Amino acid sequence: MLLPTVTPPLPRDLVGAIQDLKQQMNAVILAHYYQDPELQDIADYLGDSLGLSQQAAATDADVIVFAGVHFMAETAKILNPGKQVLLPDLEAGCSLAAGCPAAEFAAFKAQYPEHLVISYINCTAEVKALSDIICTSANAVKIVQQIPADQPILFAPDQNLGRYVMEQSGRPMVLWPGSCIVHETFSVRKLLALRAEHPTAQVIAHPECEALLLEQADYIGSTSALLKYCQTSPHQAFIVATEPGIIHQMQKHVPHKQFIPAPPEDNCHCNECPFMRLNTLEKVYLAMERRSPEIILPEATRLAALKPIQRMLAMS
Ligand code: 13P
Ligand code: SF4
Repeated sequence: MLLPTVTPPLPRDLVGAIQDLKQQMNAVILAHYYQDPELQDIADYLGDSLGLSQQAAATDADVIVFAGVHFMAETAKILNPGKQVLLPDLEAGCSLAAGCPAAEFAAFKAQYPEHLVISYINCTAEVKALSDIICTSANAVKIVQQIPADQPILFAPDQNLGRYVMEQSGRPMVLWPGSCIVHETFSVRKLLALRAEHPTAQVIAHPECEALLLEQADYIGSTSALLKYCQTSPHQAFIVATEPGIIHQMQKHVPHKQFIPAPPEDNCHCNECPFMRLNTLEKVYLAMERRSPEIILPEATRLAALKPIQRMLAMS
């Protein structure tokens, strides 16, 4: 006889139950700005990719619960082999990481034996293991500027961030042709129309956006830089060209200012990262209760990926 599948009853007070589990497990919850607001609100630390990796390196918790995507949780595991790292949904990937398979990247890299490989943190542990230095959008320009001028550089996997870094640093780089499906969705045509409707609004954009969109931006920066800019700028309205999850923090920090999400080309929700949004409060609770799904890495890959991450942390 087939038994019906039993779904475990979820506690009514999910937030309270997560807080209780956190105490019992000595866990810390790290969350990225692109998570749903209710996940941002339960985080012990909320930040951009650089801040999250710095927190992961510094934590003394036994368990790290990552409300973010796979490469972020993987980075936490690379830095903390002795800790358990939980990702509420293992399908929470990233188009940049998926678009740069390690075997193809190794073949690409082999064409440039003299080049130093700088990889954006949005890549797999295997690609990190093939890299010399990791960077995030917050420190990419700063890291490239520290490389001796006669050293050729290969940059992967985001060509949009790569082009922006070349422009800012004046350094030519060989680029892997990857991009973020979320940040390439913004429509310049619709942005211009929105700007005409809100002539005093500043356009702020993440460097993962395409060059034509970045040309329209008054300010370009990582998620935490965009948040800081809204807080410190005298302007009162902002058109935000990045994943709209961050608007929750912008509204919290400066509630009297206006934030308008930059529109995607189609009438879709494709400016929301489909990977980030896989995580839910329910999945966070279940991952903690079951201590699964967990990030597991072969030790050789972890050790090889650790070196370029440590270089980044030292150069940041
Ligand atoms: P930052 O948080 O580093 O700005 O990156 C944005 C992003 O797309 C993360 O996947
Ligand atoms: Fe990856 Fe883009 Fe989603 Fe960031 S927003 S996790 S770069 S797909």
